[in-house]
Amino acid sequence: MRSILKHITLTVMLVFGSRLLPAQNLSLTITKRYLNLPVSQTQNRGIMQFRVQGKPERSFKIRLATDKPDYWVFCDVAALKGKTISISYDGKPEGLSKIYQDDAIAGQDSLYKEKNRPQYHFSTRRGWINDPNGMIFYEGEYHLFYQHNPYEREWENMSWGHAVSKDMIHWEELPTALSPDSMGTMFSGSTVIDYTNSAGFNRGNTPAMLAFFTVDNPEKEVQCLAYSLDKGRTWTKYNKNPLIDSKAKWNSKDTRDPRVFWYKPGQHWVMVLNERDGHSIYTSKNAKEWRYESHVTGFWECPDLFELPIDGDKNRTKWVMYGASTTYMIGSFDGKTFTPESGKHVYTTGSIYAAQTFTNMPESDPRRIQIGWGRIPQPGMPFNHLMLLPTELRLQTTQKGLRLSSVPVKETGQLFTRTGQWASLSAAEANEKLKALPSLDRFRVKATLKLSHATSAGLSLFGQRILDYDLNSNLVNGVFYSPEDMTSMEVTADIYVDQTSVEVFIDSGAYSYSLERKPVSAPKENLAFWGNRIEVKNLELYTAQSIWK
Ligand code: FRU
Repeated sequence: MRSILKHITLTVMLVFGSRLLPAQNLSLTITKRYLNLPVSQTQNRGIMQFRVQGKPERSFKIRLATDKPDYWVFCDVAALKGKTISISYDGKPEGLSKIYQDDAIAGQDSLYKEKNRPQYHFSTRRGWINDPNGMIFYEGEYHLFYQHNPYEREWENMSWGHAVSKDMIHWEELPTALSPDSMGTMFSGSTVIDYTNSAGFNRGNTPAMLAFFTVDNPEKEVQCLAYSLDKGRTWTKYNKNPLIDSKAKWNSKDTRDPRVFWYKPGQHWVMVLNERDGHSIYTSKNAKEWRYESHVTGFWECPDLFELPIDGDKNRTKWVMYGASTTYMIGSFDGKTFTPESGKHVYTTGSIYAAQTFTNMPESDPRRIQIGWGRIPQPGMPFNHLMLLPTELRLQTTQKGLRLSSVPVKETGQLFTRTGQWASLSAAEANEKLKALPSLDRFRVKATLKLSHATSAGLSLFGQRILDYDLNSNLVNGVFYSPEDMTSMEVTADIYVDQTSVEVFIDSGAYSYSLERKPVSAPKENLAFWGNRIEVKNLELYTAQSIWK
């Protein structure tokens, strides 16, 4: 009885209130590619749901603007053309009537030209990005999937965004690859190509691309599988997901970020999975049934594990394991157990997090190439964070033992034009040369500094110390660094500056770091070396191109 009364009251409220209250629902027949939605960061998140013929099509959280939007986001609804969708929203409904369809996204004209848009780093058109996922090279394309919130510039609605590139430099963003479903949201993971049809999803001569990812929900995190037969454009989720549910075993919700690769000597798949306090190894023959093998403690989130030649000699190799922070161990791996032999070491610090490496590189190009998430905010923009430059990882013999180094891949060379090179300059002379850079929006500077005091010296950009070498404490921008020749008074820094980011490679990548480029507050000196009577032994200046057309 009570519930009938409640029902009647609700219906009456809706009917009689309809003239006063803005609509909670919107019905649209899709004729265009995009639905544009207004967002305001000052509104609370509400749940928006699309229904097609009464069936839920998608559901996500959004801060729908009631008044003037801060920015617009979009849904690619190309697949729904000709269909009528009904949109409901449980937040403040005023913005519903502002939603419109178009063949262009709102803001298309200024896309990639926005004030704080990184010009030679990948960033998404709209929304938030974090970890790179599923990095793979396949049929001439590099695939970069990534943790993505398409509906807001902050973390939420975790999906796999997708971009492809022929050179790891110029990217084309494609529609979202994996979206949340009734099991939960799509957390980080990896992809492989199933050349032997081990999972049985291949069609004719087309091997399936398999994606392994974590599904997160308030209760737990489980490992799942999806496959694609069209080079990652569309995906089918495996109907017997999840593959692994290990919450009870670890008495922890933190079981995530499967990194899968084919272990050739054993002819089986290997999954490295972060579980509570470290990385576990699982193995499988069919990519569906997984067996727990071993565990290494001391890592948090986003595993990677790969074999590298020592000093480029492919007959002598070691394995490298790391987690999201990029601290790593060097060791050996027999297909089931990783045995640490040295570490933990660090080769890069700063904004980088959750870096992953490309799998399935061609035999003719066995480089191990990494892309890291750059935790660098893009203030006031309809998008947030970026991917750092792709770098090649190498294992080298040093005075301290084997160490990982990282340098931008050779493909980055096309971005930069050298405008001058000089030797043996005083700081004042070098600072004069720096003035010749046509723009400080984006550029590259390579410099070798010789210090005359064991104090600090470096390079500043509008007062921000983008290189700060303290020889007394052996710190480079606050992190311990001792060069190969520990009595050397020299440091070489290759510095890449974009709109919002700085990446610095010290001594051919023996150590590197990334940081947020601070917005200019007071107009101090532009770009200048400082230090106690330093010598700039070598100086190279480069202009940088934009990767966006
Ligand atoms: C690392 C991480 C992963 C997780 C993802 C969620 O940044 O926390 O462990 O899968 O982000 O977006």
